[in-house]
Amino acid sequence: MSFETLNLPMPFLTYAARMNLWKAAGLPAPLDVLRRSESGRFLPVQSMENRDRVDELARNLSAILDEHSVTVDTETSSSLRIAILELLNNCFDHAEQASGLHGLACAQSWPKGSLAQIAIADAGCGIRETLSQNEDVARRLGQENACAVATEYGVTGKFQDHSGYGLALAREVLANNGGRLMVVSGAEIACCKSDKTYGITAEHPWNGTLIIFEWRTDRPLNATAVYEGWPYPEGMNDDDFF
Ligand SMILES: Nc1ncnc2c1ncn2[C@@H]1O[C@H](COP(=O)(O)OP(=O)(O)O)[C@@H](O)[C@H]1O
Ligand SMILES: [Mg+2]
Repeated sequence: MSFETLNLPMPFLTYAARMNLWKAAGLPAPLDVLRRSESGRFLPVQSMENRDRVDELARNLSAILDEHSVTVDTETSSSLRIAILELLNNCFDHAEQASGLHGLACAQSWPKGSLAQIAIADAGCGIRETLSQNEDVARRLGQENACAVATEYGVTGKFQDHSGYGLALAREVLANNGGRLMVVSGAEIACCKSDKTYGITAEHPWNGTLIIFEWRTDRPLNATAVYEGWPYPEGMNDDDFF
């Protein structure tokens, strides 16, 4: 993933510059903005050049999650950090980018709207491409939205090394919280909200994969309840989920 230019419509320029988008993409910013104190309200765009960066980034993102949600118990807090770690790792595990910038991630909260988001983007091969590597899943892709299929429990493009729980966990945690998970890849979007998944065609396709994890900051997040609702395949326990 590398960018030669990054052009955004005018209304987004200042915000994107403040979020460090150009810096993270290795480009000169088109305008200088006054730095605002981050004070835990947002995390400017961070770049992921290699896997070593992923642990620390997951910690920083989950710190925002902990700070901007009610009653996050320790167990949920660590489960959510692992869930974020999983979403970040997907950029390395699946996006098939040879080197360089593997992905970008940032977070933002809107206290007045009781909402917060974590966004993770890569410019890799996309979800349809990776899912089609699993024959059983590939059969469904003629009719179905690939992003929606990817959020199902147990659906993976790589069934030998992966279990397909990362996006499903994010989707179900957010469904219980009143938030939503958006998965965008190519021209396909899945919008998952309160137990329903809507397949949408993007007006502006994203050449890669973009995940938006959006939660309500005034309602609890509970990962433990999600695990408890999942069937345990034979011989498997909590630690085997990821
Ligand atoms: N960033 C990505 N780029 C390409 N494909 C992806 C990406 N993230 C997820 N996918 C696809 O969605 C599937 C489900 O992802 P996930 O729920 O994290 O499960 P797992 O990583 O265990 O397979 C992946 O196996 C892959 O095919
Ligand atoms: Mg994964």
